[in-house]
Amino acid sequence: MWLGGRGGIHKDIRPCLSWRASCKIQRMEQTLSLPHGTLAWNDVGPHRGSQTVVLLHGFPHDRGLWDAQRDACETAFPDTRFLMPDLPGFGRSAPLTTPGMDGYADAVAAMLDAAGVTQAVIGGLSMGGYVAFAFWRRHAARVRALMLMDTKAGADNEAAAAKRRELIASVQRDGVGALVDSLVASQLGRATRERDPALVERVGVMLRRAPASGVVSAAQAMIDRRDSTGTLETITVPTLVLVGMDDELTPVAESIAMSSAIPGSRLVTIPDAGHLAPLEQPQVVNAATAEFLDVAVREN
Ligand code: MLT
Repeated sequence: MWLGGRGGIHKDIRPCLSWRASCKIQRMEQTLSLPHGTLAWNDVGPHRGSQTVVLLHGFPHDRGLWDAQRDACETAFPDTRFLMPDLPGFGRSAPLTTPGMDGYADAVAAMLDAAGVTQAVIGGLSMGGYVAFAFWRRHAARVRALMLMDTKAGADNEAAAAKRRELIASVQRDGVGALVDSLVASQLGRATRERDPALVERVGVMLRRAPASGVVSAAQAMIDRRDSTGTLETITVPTLVLVGMDDELTPVAESIAMSSAIPGSRLVTIPDAGHLAPLEQPQVVNAATAEFLDVAVREN
């Protein structure tokens, strides 16, 4: 069916996979055909009378980053519908023709249209947070609340951009696999790496399956992204800033600075977690998220 209008979206939405047929609430993969190709996401939870939360993964992840939230949805979030996309170029989503945070944000808006959702809580981890800032700037009326996890507002300085250009060259030369060990070591906290070898292995598998083209595009999009520091004071919706206390990539200080600049936001720090707090400490992160959704969002 051709929807036309903004962006000329071709809608082709259908349940492709149900991974627990006995589940009382809906869990399925949805896909949408956009001009650049397919966008795929998990649609988990009740559809009627529920609030919707979008979870945007970081770099170079896919929706597998949110497996612990997906698996806990019935117990930790019985009234919440989650949409967890593969950002363009990752997982089963096709890359954008012109990559950039704005393009990722518009793909998320198209997903909401296809899912019949007017307004949602937008949550993003690290690069997903950069997309959440772009989404706020471009689609503020659709944002019920924000959850900024293990992320930062500032743009790349010249040294960071140069490191990314090296990463791009390395992926183009040797593939993604060559980077996986160092990425795992920098993204998972030391305590997690010592405590949970199975998780180390799972994260390695997720990073290894990232398509080289998606990784290159996203790295370039991060080099090109604008500074979101000035955006923080414009945020007028309830906001949760959450960070692993051992996050070395986006340290706690970044979250403290973001939280102080966002009016009325709440800051939660997660002990014994690094950059991937939702995977490293799922129960603690789920409890903090559920509390935020109940108190800060439902009651506002
Ligand atoms: C991420 O996890 O998305 C990355 O650490 C973001 C970045 O490299 O800036």
